[in-house]
Amino acid sequence: MATFSAYRIFGETTSHSTGLSDEKLLSGHPKDDSQVAGYEEDGKSAGRFVELTLDDLDPGEVVIQTHYSSVNYKDALAATGAGKVIRRFPCVGGVDVAGVVVHSDDTRFKAGDEVIVTGYGMGVDHDGGFAEYVRVPANWVVPLPQGLTLFDAMALGTAGVAAALSIHRLEQNELRPENGNVIVTGATGGVASLAIQMLAQLGYHVVALTGKDTEHDYLKSLGAAEILSRKDLEMGTRPLEKAQWAGALDAVGGETLAWLTRTMQQNGVIASFGNAGGIELNTTVMPFILRGVRLIGIDSAATAMPLRRQIWQRLATDLHPKLLAQVAHGVPFTGLPQVFPLMLQGKLRGRSVVEIKPAA
Ligand SMILES: NC(=O)c1ccc[n+]([C@@H]2O[C@H](COP(=O)([O-])OP(=O)(O)OC[C@H]3O[C@@H](n4cnc5c(N)ncnc54)[C@H](OP(=O)(O)O)[C@@H]3O)[C@@H](O)[C@H]2O)c1
Repeated sequence: MATFSAYRIFGETTSHSTGLSDEKLLSGHPKDDSQVAGYEEDGKSAGRFVELTLDDLDPGEVVIQTHYSSVNYKDALAATGAGKVIRRFPCVGGVDVAGVVVHSDDTRFKAGDEVIVTGYGMGVDHDGGFAEYVRVPANWVVPLPQGLTLFDAMALGTAGVAAALSIHRLEQNELRPENGNVIVTGATGGVASLAIQMLAQLGYHVVALTGKDTEHDYLKSLGAAEILSRKDLEMGTRPLEKAQWAGALDAVGGETLAWLTRTMQQNGVIASFGNAGGIELNTTVMPFILRGVRLIGIDSAATAMPLRRQIWQRLATDLHPKLLAQVAHGVPFTGLPQVFPLMLQGKLRGRSVVEIKPAA
C-alpha cells in the first residue's frame, strides 16, 4: 500500500521506543529522533514527520488529497506540547485542510470536488491536515465556495472563520459602524490581521492594539485607522475606566480582556476568541450591570454546519479580505516545525499557509 507523509504528534500515552515500528522517518529528514525540531522525550507531546498509509488514518467517509493546510495557534500549542490540546495520541496535527476529494462513500461528495475542513476534531482527536491525505466524516466537509481558491481557503482557515464568526456575532448584537470605534487586540496575529481588514471593509473605525512597534505601517495598510502600542498602554485598575469601544475582538485574554471589559462604551460588545496572553479573566460585574457590556464567546471549531457554511459564504463575498495575499505567506511542508516556536513567541505576522501538495 502506498505511503504518504504526515506530521504526527506523539504524547505521553505513546512509547517512543515501541510505538514506531510501523513508521519510517521520512527520507530527507534526520534519522536520529533527537535531531528532529520540536521532538522531545521528556513526557511532553512533540511532533515529527512519518510515513503512513490510509489505513493508519482515523475513519471517515471522505478521503481528501491535501493541497494546503495552515498553522493556527492551537497547532503550535499541540505540536510543541506547550498546551494540552491533543486528546488522543498519536495524532496527525493540523486543524485545517483544503484539497480535492479522491474518494467518498457519501453521495454529497465525489472525486474531484474542491473542499475545506476546519476545526471539529481535526488535529485534536482525529488525524488532521498536516498530511498528504486526510480522511474525515462527510459531515465535517464544506464545499469550496465560489470565488475562493484552495490557497485562499487556507490563508483564511480557522483564523478566517474565527474572525468572520466574531464579526457576525457582534453584528447580531447590534454592532454597527456608527456605534463607535472597534478595537482588535493581538493585531498582527492571524485572526486579527484578517479581522482588521474585514472590519475596515465594512466601514468600521478600527483601532489595532499590538506589541510590535515595527508593524504599525503594516497594520495601517490593512485598514487600521489608529494603532495602540502595548507597551504604552495605561490599563488603570478601576472597575470602570474611560469608555472607548463600541466593539472589541480579543485574541489575547488575561489582563487585556479585563481591561477591555472596563473600557467598553454603553452596550459595547466584546468577542473573546483567544488566549495568546493568558486564560485568566479578572474583572467585576460593573461593566455588565452599569454599561450593559456583552461578552460573547467564539468557538469556531464547534460551529454547526449551517452557520459554518454561511460564514464561508461571507468569507468568499462581503467579508473577503481584499489584501488576503498580503497577510498570507507560504511555508513548505518540511519547514512546518520551525513555525511553531515563532508563533508561540508572538513573532509571526499574518497567516502561514502550509504547501503540502508538491507543485506539478
Ligand atoms: N476561538 C476560536 O475559534 C479561535 C480560532 C482561532 C484562533 N483562536 C485563538 O486566538 C488567538 C490568536 O490566534 P492566531 O492564530 O491569530 O495566533 P497568532 O497569529 O499567533 O496571533 C496572536 C497575536 O497575539 C499577540 N500576542 C502574542 N503573545 C502575546 C502576549 N503574551 N500578550 C499579548 N499579546 C500577545 C501577538 O500580536 P501583537 O504582537 O500584534 O500584539 C500575536 O501575533 C489564540 O489564542 C488562538 O488560540 C481561537
